[in-house]
Amino acid sequence: MNLVASEKVKKMSASIFQEVANRKHEAIKAGKDVIDLSVGSPDFPPPPFVVDTLIECASDLSKYGYTLTGIPEFNDAVSYFYKQRYTVDLNPRSEVLQLMGSQDGLAHLATALINPGDYVLVPDPGYPIYEASVNIAGGVIYPMPLLAENKFQPMLDEIPVDILEKTKLMIISYPGNPVTALADEVFFEKVVNFAKCHDILVVHDFAYSELIFDGNPQISFMSVPGAKEVGIEFNSLSKTFNMAGCRIGYVVGNEQAINILASFKSHIDYGVFYPIQKAAVRALTSDSTFLQTQVKEYEYRRDVLIAGLEKSGWQVAKSPATMFVWARIPAGWKSREFAFALIDQAGVAVIPGDAFGELGEGYVRIAMVQPPERLSLASERIHKFLIEYSGKIM
Ligand SMILES: Cc1ncc(COP(=O)(O)O)c(C=O)c1O
Repeated sequence: MNLVASEKVKKMSASIFQEVANRKHEAIKAGKDVIDLSVGSPDFPPPPFVVDTLIECASDLSKYGYTLTGIPEFNDAVSYFYKQRYTVDLNPRSEVLQLMGSQDGLAHLATALINPGDYVLVPDPGYPIYEASVNIAGGVIYPMPLLAENKFQPMLDEIPVDILEKTKLMIISYPGNPVTALADEVFFEKVVNFAKCHDILVVHDFAYSELIFDGNPQISFMSVPGAKEVGIEFNSLSKTFNMAGCRIGYVVGNEQAINILASFKSHIDYGVFYPIQKAAVRALTSDSTFLQTQVKEYEYRRDVLIAGLEKSGWQVAKSPATMFVWARIPAGWKSREFAFALIDQAGVAVIPGDAFGELGEGYVRIAMVQPPERLSLASERIHKFLIEYSGKIM
C-alpha cells in the first residue's frame, strides 16, 4: 500500500519545530551541550497545592470515566478567575466551555464555524494553529501583517471590502506568540466596532494573560464593552499554572459561538480526566500569590537574557509579556540559517521566525524556558558566535 497525505495535510507546512528538534538531537548526539530555548513548554512546576489535588483525586477509583463537557465546578472556577483577574462577568453555564488545552478549541473552531471558501483574517506572524485550523476547515486565509512600525497591530482599514464581505472570523492575540506586543483598550474597542460593522466573529487568544511584565495592565478582550456580542477568548492553564502537559484550557464569551463549538466537540472527544479538572479548579480559585511570584521570575529571566544579548552587541526588543523574546536577527542572515547555525556552532536552540508566517522572516523566537544562569550562558555563547561570524553579519 502506498499511502499519501490528504491535500489538507499536505497544505500544512512541515513543522520547523521538528526540524529544530532533529538538529538539536544531532548536536547532542555529537557530544554538544545544547541550551534548548525552542519549545514554549514551561520548565517551572505547577503550584504544590495543584499537584496535591491531582494526586489526591487520582486515587479515587470512581473518577476514571468519561467526563464529557466537564464538571460544573470548573466553569464556576473560570468565571471566578475572570472576575478576580480581569473584572469580567461570565455566565459559567453559557459563556464558558472547557477544552483539552486551548489548542483543542483553536484547532476545531474554524471547522465548527466556517464553510469552505469563507475567509479568516489571520495575523502574520502568528501562532501556527491559526492557519492550520483554517486549512483543516477548507477556508481561505487572509493574512494581517503585524509590523513593528504599527505596534504589531493589524491595519484594519486597509483590508479590502470585498474580502471583508467573505470573512467570518478574525484571529488576534495580545500578548501573543511569537509577537509579544500588548494591546490597549482603544485597539480592542476598534476591533469590536470593526467586527460589528462587518459581521465578523473575533477570536482572541489570551494564553499568556498572566505573563505580563513591568506592571502593565492585563486586558481581557472580554472586558471591552460589546466584546461578548462579537467575540470569544481562549485561555489556558498551560502557561499560567505550568500545567501544559495536563491539557486543560477553556474558551469564554459569545454564547452562540460557544454552543456551536461545544456541539462539534461532543462528536470528537469525551472530556478531560477528572483529577486534572479538580486540580485546575484548585488553581483557578487560589489567591494570586503564585501568579505574582511567577511573573517576577519570568521578568527577571527576560532582563537577564536581554542584558546578555545587548552585551553581545545584538540589540533586541524587550518583551513586554509572555515567555518569549521575538528578536530581529543581525543583518545578512536568513532566519533558518541563523537558527541552525546557533544550534550547530553555539549550542543554543531557538525557533526561526518563518515558522510563524512570511513576515517572521528576519526574526527568531527565543523561549525563556531555562533558569537565568542558562540564559546568561546562552547569551555568552551567542556573543562568541557573533564575533566569530561577524564577517557574515556585515
Ligand atoms: C499563543 C498560544 N495559544 C495557544 C497555545 C496552546 O496552548 P494549550 O493548548 O496548552 O492551552 C499556545 C501554546 O504554546 C500558544 O503559544
